[in-house]
Amino acid sequence: MAAASRKPKKTIPKPTRSDRTGSNRLIVGISGASGVVYGVRLLEVLKDAGFETHLVMSKSAEITLAYETDLKIAAVKALAHTVYPNSDIAAAISSGSFKTRGMIIAPCSIRTVSEIATGVTSSLMSRAADVVLKERRRLVLMVRESPLHTGHLRTLTTASEIGAIIAPPLPGFYAKPETIADMVDHTVGRVLDLFDIDVGLVRRWGEAQ
Ligand SMILES: Cc1cc2nc3c(=O)[nH]c(=O)nc-3n(C[C@H](O)[C@H](O)[C@H](O)COP(=O)(O)O)c2cc1C
Repeated sequence: MAAASRKPKKTIPKPTRSDRTGSNRLIVGISGASGVVYGVRLLEVLKDAGFETHLVMSKSAEITLAYETDLKIAAVKALAHTVYPNSDIAAAISSGSFKTRGMIIAPCSIRTVSEIATGVTSSLMSRAADVVLKERRRLVLMVRESPLHTGHLRTLTTASEIGAIIAPPLPGFYAKPETIADMVDHTVGRVLDLFDIDVGLVRRWGEAQ
């Protein structure tokens, strides 16, 4: 008998339904643009709705979290099913063979969208986004910057042309928000609409409430 055939067989974990289709998995990226609360709220509602979230946060996102909220980094990470360091380019989400429903970067900085648009994927965040695009899965970028110069606009056009959905976090006043939380929820709900996920956050135009 050949030596190779005597090797004990590796035990491969039986895939769950989610592993096979990826339909229950979403990658959430939080980059260092203003509006870190969108990413946090997204993690909260996806957790409550039973989705498996795979989180990657940039170093700048950790800084904006400290500036914009009282939350600790650990508390945000605890909302996710799995957390990866942004330097871990060998993480599961860096491969297209790891099936997911897609990725949302909330909020998305100009730096991160620029990496994605050019294909210079030097972090796990931009690599995972690039993988989502190459696998023709859904990539939603909540790009936050204002005002925008022509270079930014060209970058956003390129990202859109290669398949990303540019969804800046802009409040819709037709929903008559009374609090910042209302505005955040409506925007998060509209972003989830892009994945056909309805967690009941959106006041829909033309529908009785
Ligand atoms: C409080 C704060 C707010 C920021 N807001 C924005 C912003 O709205 N949009 C943006 O593109 N960059 C913003 N930046 C700058 C980014 O954090 C910076 O460009 C960083 O390099 C982005 O890195 P990342 O894409 O890896 O997260 C902000 C930085 C800080 C500290």
